[in-house]
Amino acid sequence: MRKPLVMGNWKMHGSRASVKQLLGGLVREGGYPSVDVVVCPAFVHIPLAVSLCEGSGLGVGAQDCSHMAAGAYTGEVAAEMLVDSGCRWVILGHSERRQYHGESDDMVAAKVAAALAAGLAPVVCVGETRDEREAGEAQYTVARQLQGALRGQSNTRHLVVAYEPVWAIGTGLTATPQEAQAMHAFIREQLADLKGVDAAATRVLYGGSVKPDNAAELFAETDIDGALVGGASLDAQDFQAIVAAARG
Ligand code: 13P
Repeated sequence: MRKPLVMGNWKMHGSRASVKQLLGGLVREGGYPSVDVVVCPAFVHIPLAVSLCEGSGLGVGAQDCSHMAAGAYTGEVAAEMLVDSGCRWVILGHSERRQYHGESDDMVAAKVAAALAAGLAPVVCVGETRDEREAGEAQYTVARQLQGALRGQSNTRHLVVAYEPVWAIGTGLTATPQEAQAMHAFIREQLADLKGVDAAATRVLYGGSVKPDNAAELFAETDIDGALVGGASLDAQDFQAIVAAARG
């Protein structure tokens, strides 16, 4: 049985004040017992988030990390630094990084290796563009991204995969639960073919315009183990409603 996981990707939003306010609305007595809940603020807000989440059961993750362990890499943040700052998770290969920073499958693979070596749980994002879907290439793209990111990894115990169709991110368009389930099942099949991956134990999250009113029907699907939430994670009430839907 896979424990549901709901992650908030705050992207490049927030201030110290808004982080305090948002986490003030999320940290609650008793925590979130039957679901893993993780927030991913911008790097500079990680220490504040970690201190505010302490003892709450809420986890903190980052939105990226360097592919290198240490050295002369101006502007980069190493996976080890994230662990040292209290992070346990890191989002890798998000479509916005692939699009705006030219991240290739090879770069994502190097980042996954760095994250796993440091003991972080990598949340590997995959997903097709609208053109790729319309051309019937959605599965091909997702399989290529998965194989590219996970090739040669021998210990993927903490691996999480997030299926985020690019056309559904920030657009208000969501894959239907059936479309999402079909791709999640395909992802699990692909994972089963990869050496060193326990496909049945790996959580596969859905991302792309997840909101309180569509979360429950997505989570009802067999292979959807939670969500990677963008916009709605910036509102404590909406995010909590999505977490509640994951709890069933
Ligand atoms: P939205 O929920 O805003 O569509 O963003 C999804 C996403 O990119 C999460 O990583």
